[in-house]
Amino acid sequence: MYSLYSTTQENHIKSVIMKLHIFLSCIVVIHGATISNEKCDGVTIDGIYYDKEKTDDIFKTAKINLYTKDFAELDGVENGFAQTVDQKNHVLYIGSSKGIYKYDNTDNTVKLIAALDTDIWSIYFKDVLYYSEFPSLFLYTVKNGQTERFKDLEETKVAYFAIDDEEDMFYANDTGLYSQKKNTKDSVLYKSLNNGDDVRGLTTDVNGRVYICLPDGIYRVNKHTTTVEKVVDVDDALGVALDGNNNIIYADTTSLIHLKPSKNKNC
Ligand SMILES: *[C@@H]1O[C@H](CO)[C@@H](O)[C@H](O)[C@H]1NC(C)=O
Repeated sequence: MYSLYSTTQENHIKSVIMKLHIFLSCIVVIHGATISNEKCDGVTIDGIYYDKEKTDDIFKTAKINLYTKDFAELDGVENGFAQTVDQKNHVLYIGSSKGIYKYDNTDNTVKLIAALDTDIWSIYFKDVLYYSEFPSLFLYTVKNGQTERFKDLEETKVAYFAIDDEEDMFYANDTGLYSQKKNTKDSVLYKSLNNGDDVRGLTTDVNGRVYICLPDGIYRVNKHTTTVEKVVDVDDALGVALDGNNNIIYADTTSLIHLKPSKNKNC
C-alpha cells in the first residue's frame, strides 16, 4: 500500500463522499437548509469579506443530491468518487474504481469510455482527460478512448494534477507539491509534503488559478513567490471546489461551506 494513503478505508470513503458532494453542489442547487452566520465570523480574501454559508448534515444532503433524478443514473457507477468537468463542452467525467465514465445529460446516462477495470485515484480535464491510477499513481491521458502514460511526468508519481491558465502543470505526490511547464521535465517545488501530508485535492478556479486542499485549510498557489498561501483556515478540510463566480466551496467533517462575498458588512 502506498504510504500516503494509509488512512482507513472508512475515512477514505468519507472523504470521497465529501468530494463528490461538493462537486455536485457546484453544478446542482443545494436544497439543504442554510444557516446564516453571526457578524464577522467569515473570512477576508484579497480585501473582500466573505460570509460562510453553511449547509449542515452533509451526508443527508449528499444523499439527496445523489438521488435526485438528475443523478439517479450515477448509481450505475461503482465508487464514482473522482470527477472533472470539460468546461468548454460541459461534459462531466467520473473516475470510479472500475474505469472512467462520461455523463450524458441529454439522456441522463453514464457510459464507460476508458480505463476499464482501473482504479481511478484522481481525474482532471484540460484539452484532454488526465487521470492518476491507483495504486501505481502513474498519470495517463485519454485520447479517443486510448490511454497512454503522460510523457512529461513519466518518471514520477502523481496523486493529484491540474494545469493553470499559462500551461503550468501542478501536481502533488508523496514528497511535495510541484509545478512544471508543460512539455518540459523541470519541476519546481512549491511545498514540501511529508508522505503527501494527506492532500485532499487540487483544483483550478475560473481564471485557471490553482488551489490545494490540505487538512488544515485551503491554499492558493502564488507563482511570484513559488509558494502556496493559506486562504481559509479549516479544521479537517475534506475537499475544495470553486463555483461559477469564483467563490470557494469547501467541506469539513460536519458541513459544506460556501463563501459568499458580503459588501454590506464592515468586517
Ligand atoms: C514527486 O515529484 C518530484 C518532482 O517531479 C520527484 O522529484 C519526486 O521523486 C516525486 N516523488 C515521488 C514519490 O514520486
